[in-house]
Amino acid sequence: MTRVARAGLVSALVVSFLSIDVGAVRLAHAESEVPATNPLTGNEAAIREGRSWFRAACALCHGIHADGAGERGYAADLRVFKLGFRGYVETVKKGRDVPGRAAKMPPWGGALSDQQIYQIGAYLETLAKDGANWKETSR
Ligand code: HEC
Repeated sequence: MTRVARAGLVSALVVSFLSIDVGAVRLAHAESEVPATNPLTGNEAAIREGRSWFRAACALCHGIHADGAGERGYAADLRVFKLGFRGYVETVKKGRDVPGRAAKMPPWGGALSDQQIYQIGAYLETLAKDGANWKETSR
């Protein structure tokens, strides 16, 4: 490899590292970057993945049918969820402390990727009852 080619390669690598960095910083402030609607809605592979993640991570509290009747049957019935897609992603990432109740929704932001949270959302949409809102985000 010539010196010029090597220099070119090195600067290309530096540039790509820099843009990875910038990407990470942007993701850290990413709330506004959550799309208004779930990009995985209706995607069958995503729905299957989401079902497995839901069963592994959420069913204990929300119930295997997402009706709130989990083994620790104190969590919300997700079939009637009303807060829209961003509200869903935010709730799952940050968790929810219910005042006056010992039971809490744990924050999942560190454990699940956005992709996994979207997959779970795509699955939960398939269980939604009439009047539920997984999609419209009014902000
Ligand atoms: C340790 C028990 C527990 C686990 C595990 C859990 N949750 Fe929750 N979740 C709760 C509780 C408690 C609430 C608050 C219920 C309330 O507001 O009455 C809640 C609330 C929610 C809400 C808001 C519901 C609403 O109508 O506003 C969503 C969405 C949600 N959970 C999704 C999930 C998802 C997705 C997972 C898996 C990644 C999960 N939860 C795992 C306990 C849990």
